[in-house]
Amino acid sequence: MPNILLVGNGAREHVLAETLARSPQRPRLFAYMKANNPGIADLSHETRLGGYGDTEAIVDLARSREVDFAVIGPEDPLHSGVVDALQTAGIPAVGPSRSLARLETSKAFTRGLLEKYGIPGNVAFRVFTSMTGVEEFLAGLREAVVKPDGLTGGKGVMVQGDHFHAKEEALAICRRMLEEHERVIVEEKVVGEEFSLQCLCDGEHVVATPPVQDHKRRFVDDKGPNTGGMGSYSCADHLLPFLRREDIMAGLEITRLVAAAIRRETGESYRGIMYGGFMITSAGLRLLEYNARLGDPEAMNILPLLETDFVALCGAIIHGALDRLPVSFSPQATVCKYIVPKGYGLPKDHPDSQSIAARIEVGDTGGARLYYSSVDQREDGLYMTTSRAIGVVGIAPDLEEAEAMAERAVTAVKGPVAHRPDIGTSALIDKRIRHMAEIRKNLP
Ligand code: GLY
Repeated sequence: MPNILLVGNGAREHVLAETLARSPQRPRLFAYMKANNPGIADLSHETRLGGYGDTEAIVDLARSREVDFAVIGPEDPLHSGVVDALQTAGIPAVGPSRSLARLETSKAFTRGLLEKYGIPGNVAFRVFTSMTGVEEFLAGLREAVVKPDGLTGGKGVMVQGDHFHAKEEALAICRRMLEEHERVIVEEKVVGEEFSLQCLCDGEHVVATPPVQDHKRRFVDDKGPNTGGMGSYSCADHLLPFLRREDIMAGLEITRLVAAAIRRETGESYRGIMYGGFMITSAGLRLLEYNARLGDPEAMNILPLLETDFVALCGAIIHGALDRLPVSFSPQATVCKYIVPKGYGLPKDHPDSQSIAARIEVGDTGGARLYYSSVDQREDGLYMTTSRAIGVVGIAPDLEEAEAMAERAVTAVKGPVAHRPDIGTSALIDKRIRHMAEIRKNLP
């Protein structure tokens, strides 16, 4: 019976805990969390609360409970060097070292890697440490994206047309970012359909999981501000309705080349998740960014479908043996919808912002899965906090059924909550297909 440490407290870690717990090896889970997730607590032998920067406390828990390995859910502990500290203590982990987590924490590192090793999928970009040359570079781009180089929790990316319009505004944004960050990246904006390809990497071998499409915008029809992700879907054929098999193979090949480039560049092997955010554009497949962890919500789409023993899979990632373990996912469709406080993503003076720390009741979610995210289990009930509260996931032979299942589950959560009813519906998916058809018309 292996002892496993799980670090993280969101819905992604709840589904990680569930997937570890259903292993035939019957592992004993120890969870280190920033806030008490009741779903993870239920599945764990023991939990400990603490910050993700406190690597000493994490190593202390792992060592004292003689854990065989650790699984790191979010990016913050990766950036804090938890994997390095565990390694020093002789405890392996699923997750990259602080230096290799730059794949996510430094967009300049990743873009530079693609450029240096001639890996396809890059966009025109430049990294600036001062304003010198920014105006000239911007002048050569049709439209721009400006990002600070560093861990920004998915925020901080400024896109022309969404967050600003004129090039002069881009200049002001760069100036502002350089006051807080050492470097900014200015990139060419690309247009198309996005998908998430979450890959497992043991340092040498890379295995893709089914592609997923996330929905970042807060409101129906992709309106409103960007969020951490309001929901996502995946299809029974392990494609997406607008994707072709060769698009996935191209994303996987880019990820394989990046894993090899990381090894050559740093001499270190990347053991963990390489989650590529890709876009099919009229010029072909483009990499938007990598994350060094599973997606949230996307982890909730793929992990419930995993047929392979996840504990064995973690062992294969750690020991460089992914080529010897067949990895399979059941051929079912999934639709994940996040239930959020009504005021989530709204300005503080909006009347609905009162909903943020409200109490909720969870009834019968039928056949759908339920994963807790930012909630606080108090003596008098379950409270939401400031962010996404609960992910519900419908799993069925086709998308229509999976969507209906997720929608029914949403109604089981009572309180001042909101969700996006359009995620996974044929109306929204048809729109994606039409958009992709337009883009493909112009493909070279
Ligand atoms: N789905 C977006 C993220 O996990 O960063």
